[in-house]
Amino acid sequence: MTEWFQSWFNDDYLLLYPHRNAAEAAQLVSLIGEHTQWTSGWRVLDVGCGPGRHAVALEGAGLRPVGLDLSSALLRRARQVTSAPLVRADMRRLPIRAGSMDACLSLFTSFGYFESDEEHAATLAGMTATLRPGGWFVMDFLNAAQVRSHVAPVAGPLVPGERGSHLRKYLSADQRYVIKEIHLADGRLFNERVRLYHATELEAMLAAAGITVEQRFGDYQGARCIDGSPRALLMGRAA
Ligand SMILES: C[S@@+](CC[C@H](N)C(=O)[O-])C[C@H]1O[C@@H](n2cnc3c(N)ncnc32)[C@H](O)[C@@H]1O
Repeated sequence: MTEWFQSWFNDDYLLLYPHRNAAEAAQLVSLIGEHTQWTSGWRVLDVGCGPGRHAVALEGAGLRPVGLDLSSALLRRARQVTSAPLVRADMRRLPIRAGSMDACLSLFTSFGYFESDEEHAATLAGMTATLRPGGWFVMDFLNAAQVRSHVAPVAGPLVPGERGSHLRKYLSADQRYVIKEIHLADGRLFNERVRLYHATELEAMLAAAGITVEQRFGDYQGARCIDGSPRALLMGRAA
């Protein structure tokens, strides 16, 4: 069975998220750099690197990023903008040597796509295992508290999106996932489905994976993370 994230993250995805651009990526990378105090030459794994916008900013900051993604369409885009090594792989089975990274990043909700909490926990453990002792793990995830208070529990009317698309968001029947239905102008339909982990749940999962969270932010400007924040951005270190 093809899972939704195997088919949706393609060139159509990029057309629908034009505001998720290089400037936004540079802002986030700068915030991460300020708080991790990374130094030139650090090896940084970007899990779910997509079109490579963060890899570009990381290279610009003097780091040595490695981009990893499942989507060959998005990796092709990344190849056009960065000279960083790019790996096509599933984040559930990372082909990266344990302890080889100074930092590992999961940016712009590149997590929460799987069926079970066990699979998510195992994926996090795989990501954190790539870190050397003292290496940084950064998780930039949707803020589940904010999503739950803004998204209707049942599907409402479609609203217009980019490029003639129509969208609607709602919660799954068990309230554990947020679903975004994406009707493209040419009639194709995709569903994004993301597990609503609250920031405190993410932090507990990270602790179980050996990461102590030291910094928490609610947006890319570095505001405090509260229930109404747009993002849940956690930065922590491996033991
Ligand atoms: C929301 S996009 C974010 C992309 C990128 N981080 C950015 O901010 O532009 C999520 C990314 O995760 C990738 N992805 C989804 N499932 C994956 C998996 N199982 N293994 C590796 N990458 C995956 C997608 O192909 C996509 O590039």
